[in-house]
Amino acid sequence: AERNRHKMDFKQEVIKALHLAIGDTLTEAAITKLVETPKDDKMGDYAFPTFALAKVFHQAPQQIATTLAGKIDATPFEKVEVKGAYINFFLDKVSFANTVLTTIAKEPLHYGDQQLGSGNVPIDMSSPNIAKPMSMGHLRSTVIGNALANILTKTGYTPIKINHLGDWGTQFGKLIVAYRKWGSEEDVKRDPIHYLVQYYVRFHKEAETQPELDEEARAVFKQLEDGDPEVHQLWSWFREESLKEFKRIYKELGIEFDSYKGEAFYNDKMDAVTDALEQKGLLKESQGAEIVDLSKYDLNPALIRKSDGATLYMTRDLAAAIYRHDQYHFVQSLYVVGNEQREHFQQLKAVLKEMGYDWADDIHHIPFGLITANGKKLSTRKGNIILLEKVLKDAVVLAKKQIAEKHPDLENAEQVAHEVGVGAVVFHDLKNERLDNFDFNLEEVVRFEGETGPYVQYTNARANSILKKTDQKPVAEVALTDPAAWPVLKALGDYPNVIARALREYEPSVIAKYALRLAKAFNQYYANVKVLVDDAELPARLAMVKAVSTVLTDALHTLGVGAPAEM
Ligand code: ARG
Repeated sequence: AERNRHKMDFKQEVIKALHLAIGDTLTEAAITKLVETPKDDKMGDYAFPTFALAKVFHQAPQQIATTLAGKIDATPFEKVEVKGAYINFFLDKVSFANTVLTTIAKEPLHYGDQQLGSGNVPIDMSSPNIAKPMSMGHLRSTVIGNALANILTKTGYTPIKINHLGDWGTQFGKLIVAYRKWGSEEDVKRDPIHYLVQYYVRFHKEAETQPELDEEARAVFKQLEDGDPEVHQLWSWFREESLKEFKRIYKELGIEFDSYKGEAFYNDKMDAVTDALEQKGLLKESQGAEIVDLSKYDLNPALIRKSDGATLYMTRDLAAAIYRHDQYHFVQSLYVVGNEQREHFQQLKAVLKEMGYDWADDIHHIPFGLITANGKKLSTRKGNIILLEKVLKDAVVLAKKQIAEKHPDLENAEQVAHEVGVGAVVFHDLKNERLDNFDFNLEEVVRFEGETGPYVQYTNARANSILKKTDQKPVAEVALTDPAAWPVLKALGDYPNVIARALREYEPSVIAKYALRLAKAFNQYYANVKVLVDDAELPARLAMVKAVSTVLTDALHTLGVGAPAEM
């Protein structure tokens, strides 16, 4: 309850007033479900439709609205009005402003925090494949996972960020064969992923005409699984070099992981899984492979072991799920992985259920859509990739150019350009609804106007610069009565609800869209109102400007985007 003190109680006020007027016919919970937030301000800040009561009271909704409104104690509100079948509640704007601004000023670093739950929540995120470049596709998993971790922290949970590296599988057989045939140690040391990808691509090309290469690769992977020291040494070197490159990108993004336990970590935990499946009589033979039949879930069978004894992606995920449960006793276990793996995670849950683990219900796949470039799907094998590191570099260059135009004498321009460029890419990714596919166009992403991260950052910097232009101090307790401030105040008051909704829907875009909304409301206000005029409300206006900066900064940070004080 202590942490919930930042949650505004205005809706609660409306619900209470309604409950008193209606009596026990409807519970508070039932009323809560009915209360709406009208799109049009003229309809009030909250509205209560009476249709659901018509049957109970045997009266026309309109009549019910009139009768109820007569019984409502309107003192806490500006006014309570009947419009047709609706009762519209208008909040008292001055007391609303006061509550919102004092709440934000009191604990600026924790506004929006609330206790919606507790316990460990592992988040399987990023999880790129060793010896392949991290692409824009992996960016989505990384930044969505990171934002969800921040949202979970704000709402009382303990996130655990796990990078389930793709560091095992038949592709390592191919890679090692290719390296031995065409590779060079110096090249790999100089530019690891670049050359490893070349070997991999060349392998696929040559295998088209020399199918025996595939046979060879299978044999080498088997050697790897059996622990051949020379093969293992190569694998471990490739892994190390790739990881170094990935970590460079994570550093650019400012993202850290709690664990890098990838697929290979589960090698010695696989037998336990297959044994358990066997014991429970769940393993079946099918065309030489071993599977778990999932027809009762309306799903394709899960492949557990191939004919050559090699274990599979699914088996590793079973081992990982069980390991995470043993290790963290999680309350939820999230997997931020592309929508194309939807069936895989349905199968994973179904097999765990068959094994008798009721916590399988706490596993949630958080799918997301594809990023395309000029309308085309990105693929490593076909060479149609966008290198994330290059994207980030180009974004910083574009940001630098715009900053040089807008603010040529900015002190730490280098650092700010980094926060703006990288932040623009991250924000763009998160502003799109998770499941939507979107096309990536760097010029658009880094623009300072429009629905972009730089626009939000710039608005925050502008709010900061207003505060620096005066010796007056913001005072949240001073009454703010100017109606022009209302849209900004309303948006400020909405932040805790926005955080709660982002958690409920596992949807960071809710916060990104909110930040754009608040920034737009503030810019509109600033275009119409002279903030720095020395009158009685100046300290209150400054408090609102400061609150805008506080909330924009928190929203950006929650998304994993920097918020430079100046730009
Ligand atoms: N490495 C995989 C890929 O790039 C993603 C792994 C996702 N996590 C998992 N536990 N399966 O497609």
